Amino acid sequence: MKDSIDLAADFIKMGKLVAFPTETVYGLGADATNEMAVKEIYALKGRPSINPLIVHVRSLDEALKIAVLNEKALKVARYFWPGPLTIVARLGDSTNIAASVLAGLETVAIRVPAHRVALELLQKSGVPIAAPSANPSGYISATRHEHVLEHFAGKDALVLRDKEECKYGIESTILDTTSKSPTVLRSGFITLKALAEVLEEEVLLSSSLMQIKAPGMLDKHYAPATKLRLNSTDLAIGEVGLNFGGARLLGAGSLNLSDKSDLIEAAANLYDMLKRLDDYARENNLLGIAVAPIPNEGVGLAINDRLQRAAF
Ligand code: TXA
Ligand code: MG
Repeated sequence: MKDSIDLAADFIKMGKLVAFPTETVYGLGADATNEMAVKEIYALKGRPSINPLIVHVRSLDEALKIAVLNEKALKVARYFWPGPLTIVARLGDSTNIAASVLAGLETVAIRVPAHRVALELLQKSGVPIAAPSANPSGYISATRHEHVLEHFAGKDALVLRDKEECKYGIESTILDTTSKSPTVLRSGFITLKALAEVLEEEVLLSSSLMQIKAPGMLDKHYAPATKLRLNSTDLAIGEVGLNFGGARLLGAGSLNLSDKSDLIEAAANLYDMLKRLDDYARENNLLGIAVAPIPNEGVGLAINDRLQRAAF
């Protein structure tokens, strides 16, 4: 019998879509060199065509066939790949990446994922895979197999699963290596500090409102249908709470991102808990989700970034 990853690789080669786990979030992937297949991703997600996709490859060597990595890009690639770092680099001259992936930019966002299933899929399909997060555009990203099935069951996509789900739980850090100073366009598990240490130079954090380089990052994102109220210290009537550490937004349905105030655990729980609270609020006609303050340090920066966009 054919292994499910073999079958998924056949899907990719035929120009069909495959949702697959990565160490960050689930991706909804297609052959990045197949224009028709990539267009299908945009259609299925309801994603604006101006928002470019990340190209996933199995190794640095494969990345070099697509992009021109300068010295800084090579340094971080060697250090952090496979892993939750996306590098924005200049597009190579003889690339065959589909135009829709790039949304008109002369750069490409590229990464080598660290999940066994993602790597095996890349290996077996033999092509680069363009994959945004596997959620309807603007909605909470998917970190569990059930989320993906809920969004895309019955649609024309194969959904892969694995006992290891998305261990980091938030999207990869995006580092632009084409600007004068390396600049983080989206924060993630790999922090500014970690990048600065490896690069031995200052790394900038792009201010989200000046985000012309990653157009898709401007709008409301990662958002539940239920309204979020951030930095809450009490629970209002009609709200359910999302706690962190010792916060006491207590009431029926409330959850805690990490009882022990561990930001890494909180990141891993973030989207799943937001999804559960959103479902709970909708089932019980609640008005809002109150979110406790999250320390703005380390991975907390990435968590707060997602929460702010979700509450936008
Ligand atoms: O962890 C991740 O990165 C996940 C998994 C599946 O790999 N993928 C992911 O993709 O988060 P997506 O499409 O949800 O987010 C990709 C972001 C978008 O905000 C897009 O605007 C930005 O990457 N992007 C893509 N190409 C870019 C480029 N050339 N320059 C700047 N930003 C780019
Ligand atoms: Mg996304």
